[in-house]
Amino acid sequence: MNNTPFTPSNTASWNKLIELASEIQSPVNSATITKLFTEDSHRVEKYSLKTGNLKLDFSKNLIDDAIWEQLLRLANESPLSSHRDAMFAGEAINRTEDRAVLHAALRSNPEDASTPDEQQRSAQVEMQLAAVERISNDIRQGDWLGSTGKPITDIINIGIGGSDLGPKMACTALEEFAHERINVHFISNVDGAQILSLLKKLDAETTLVSIASKTFTTQETMLNAKTVIQWFKDKLGLKNAQNSRHFIGLTANPAAAVAYGIPETQILEFSDWVGGRYSLWSSIGLSIAISIGFENFKAMLAGAHEMDLHFKNAPLEKNMPVILGLLGIWYSNFLNAQSIAVIPYCERLLLLPSYLQQLDMESNGKSTSLDGNPVNYNTGPILWGQTGTNGQHAFFQLLHQGTRMAPIDFIATIKDNLSNPEHHQVLLGNMLAQSSALMEGQEAPEGQQHRYYPGNKPSNTLLLNELTPKNFGALIALYEHKVFVQGSIWNINSFDQWGVELGKKMANSLLDQGSNNENLDPSTKALFDYIEGKD
Ligand code: F6P
Repeated sequence: MNNTPFTPSNTASWNKLIELASEIQSPVNSATITKLFTEDSHRVEKYSLKTGNLKLDFSKNLIDDAIWEQLLRLANESPLSSHRDAMFAGEAINRTEDRAVLHAALRSNPEDASTPDEQQRSAQVEMQLAAVERISNDIRQGDWLGSTGKPITDIINIGIGGSDLGPKMACTALEEFAHERINVHFISNVDGAQILSLLKKLDAETTLVSIASKTFTTQETMLNAKTVIQWFKDKLGLKNAQNSRHFIGLTANPAAAVAYGIPETQILEFSDWVGGRYSLWSSIGLSIAISIGFENFKAMLAGAHEMDLHFKNAPLEKNMPVILGLLGIWYSNFLNAQSIAVIPYCERLLLLPSYLQQLDMESNGKSTSLDGNPVNYNTGPILWGQTGTNGQHAFFQLLHQGTRMAPIDFIATIKDNLSNPEHHQVLLGNMLAQSSALMEGQEAPEGQQHRYYPGNKPSNTLLLNELTPKNFGALIALYEHKVFVQGSIWNINSFDQWGVELGKKMANSLLDQGSNNENLDPSTKALFDYIEGKD
């Protein structure tokens, strides 16, 4: 890995991009995306590409050839390529935690492992995957029995953050492939209303709980697990239900799971070089394998692996994660956009925006560079979104006529086996109409300024052939690598999350000491007293 200090804002390309940004926005120039299309009849071909079953059209962005050339130059001037090679080679690029970042190794081909390290890692992954296969098959086939001898019908995945969002999103997205008899539920929030309401609907005899936690220490997860253990005691008289066939542990800290009482044969491990928000490909994905079957789970890994190869080998100008990453940098750092919206025109991708929120905002919400200095440029954007067409009837007003710039990623599938041609045509027609209307805008009729649509609103359109496990895997890996590209250019560590620690520490101290905590600020102390009825 190249350890030479790097400041993107000191590069020649960055400074040129500042100039180009002011030119393209100047009223004299009055460049619009629509005008750029009329000036270049090859714009669509030039700014589109396909990899596997994913097609990206990025022609509706506020970029011209000069800007694109400088963005690519910025990627070349940055440590992106060496950083990418270092990640795939297993170097400890997560410097603040001294860890490698190897989620890609969870989906690589064992035959490709060439060095002894790679071979050892690959053997370890194969073993972990074999456990996922064995247990998911047993449960799916009805061979895994609860303590009263009945097959499992309901799985509760208890986890939070990466131990929840990835599996939950994947199970929702791949509903077409779901097992008919087995329902998968996800409990994340420490809000007892979530777990208690779910438990009311379930039969303890046929319920299996997977405690999903990389650290096996997370407060919310451990409290939810405790509540379910008590439920099994109340319903089935099990003294320590965590010792029974009703519990599985998914963790990178097997010692803690053993100490908790989960039988060793029911603990599915993964390695600490898998970051929490990158863990759906590991044993944390057990609920996915139970729901869609192990073969489909493997297909999801294979799709992600194809994207890994594309990211690793394609030249920067034809590299989809690099392109998406550079466009995001253009808007964040040069056109002052504060957010990015992700709008899937596919209801089964409803959870994609919240999954991407963790992926992007926990990874790149940083203000200290890898060299330990405060950064003097914007880093990760605020990511938000909702499915279309629902969003159209909620927040699209602001996108069309508001004052803020919010670049959008539109995502859709060309074919949908769960829909019908009439619905699907209307769905896709709406998406295309929105991206076009946002770009083209419309003049106001005389005296009716409120009907003015300024247009010139940028977007990407990403099309998947269909929502198969393989294409879904490729889509998620695409965004993982996009986040990596941006983190590399911003020269920040995309793989730690120290920002969440302070709040956790304060919550613990507040819970321990209540409003007697001397360190509490006056507002929090007063609120605490009010909740306690002391005021
Ligand atoms: O607090 C943030 C975080 O560490 C995430 O990065 C992680 O996905 C989540 O908490 C859950 O952690 P664990 O899997 O260790 O319970």
